[in-house]
Amino acid sequence: MDLKSSPIWYPYTQEKLADDPIIIEKAQGAYLYPKGGEKVYDAISSWWVNIHGHSHPYINKRLNEQLSTMEQTIFAGHTHVPAINLAKRILEKLGNKFHKVFFSDNGSTSVECALKMSLQFWKNQGIKRQKILAFNHGFHGETFGTRAVGNCLENISELCQGVFEIDFIEAPIPGTTLSQLEEKLASNDYAAFIFEPIIQGVRGMVMQDINVLDSMIKLCQEKEILCIADEVMTGFGRTGKMFAIDYLENKPDIVCLAKALTGGTLPLALTVCNEKVHQAFYSDDLSKALLYGHSFAGNALGCAAAHASLDLLEKAETINSIEKINSYHLDFAQEVKGSNFKTLFKDIRIMGTIIALEYKSNSKNGYFNELGPKMKSFFRDRNVLLRPLGNVIYIIPPYCSKQDDLKLAYEAIWDFSEGLND
Ligand SMILES: Cc1ncc(COP(=O)(O)O)c(C=O)c1O
Repeated sequence: MDLKSSPIWYPYTQEKLADDPIIIEKAQGAYLYPKGGEKVYDAISSWWVNIHGHSHPYINKRLNEQLSTMEQTIFAGHTHVPAINLAKRILEKLGNKFHKVFFSDNGSTSVECALKMSLQFWKNQGIKRQKILAFNHGFHGETFGTRAVGNCLENISELCQGVFEIDFIEAPIPGTTLSQLEEKLASNDYAAFIFEPIIQGVRGMVMQDINVLDSMIKLCQEKEILCIADEVMTGFGRTGKMFAIDYLENKPDIVCLAKALTGGTLPLALTVCNEKVHQAFYSDDLSKALLYGHSFAGNALGCAAAHASLDLLEKAETINSIEKINSYHLDFAQEVKGSNFKTLFKDIRIMGTIIALEYKSNSKNGYFNELGPKMKSFFRDRNVLLRPLGNVIYIIPPYCSKQDDLKLAYEAIWDFSEGLND
């Protein structure tokens, strides 16, 4: 399909420079099946969502059952059992440390809701706290609010300045101390502190010092600042645990979940908060309610898919597979470190099912690095779906991936790197 004459304006695509999109006819397991072409290994779970692979028969079965009784209903003044049970199940999975689950329909809205919750939390109490604290180079979604607190892709984020007051601090990559945060806290009363826990995804799968992050949450909570963990990318087994916050002693006040929540089958998102947050909204005064909601909030099909995905996640087979993927990544990293092109890399990072290899670069680092487009077309010719983030190539595979599937991605990265070395 020729991009220029296409009626579709594609996301994250510069039409003048991009290759024509591949038409996918079928998606099954860890593979995409293009029209008239060879199957493509989906090494990034189609934008990090399809954790169990595509068209999973069990998820499909549960979806079909749900479809035969109810597809979508209004979610205010009305509710349904799939949503009630999903909320209970998520609270349990979060260790019963949270109190309420708010439904929306994508990662951006789950974070947008968390930000609104935080700001209104203070307003409802008549306290003027309106400033947000966030990590530099973060990504939290596509709405004005979420783009304002995530300054990773500067070209749009700068258009979102002024939505609210924000201070950025460096994320706790290894070697970071608490001093920058301490300095900020000494002179500011923030409403909320928002962060991608343990891994900043869009930045290039940049990993953090867990202990420092833990201390940051503690320091913020000592100042009554609401802590928002954006688990949109990290949730549901990605980091090796169910949630990235499972690595932390200090729990946030609000957690945002989406992407893999439904096993990547349908859009659904949750914003989960603790009792303290909810309490500030519970009142005889309607204007103190969270007057916020989306048409597809609590979509019954999405809830059915989420239940099915959680059933699969609970299986020993899936947990084993997550562990195996991690060990294959570790082996591959060792091989790369022993290769004749090892000096090409600035860093190789692994956590759970994620591996990221960052190439050294003389030009701009980050999303606009010139290596990105070169890698993209190289991997496309190899029938492996890998989308670099600038000079960072990463694999974030479906958990159904076997060693032979992953090898396709490893070998493609290996050959690309060898080619650079020549
Ligand atoms: C950490 C994080 N938050 C929020 C989002 C936005 O999610 P969505 O694309 O579903 O709106 C993303 C998307 O990549 C993300 O990585």
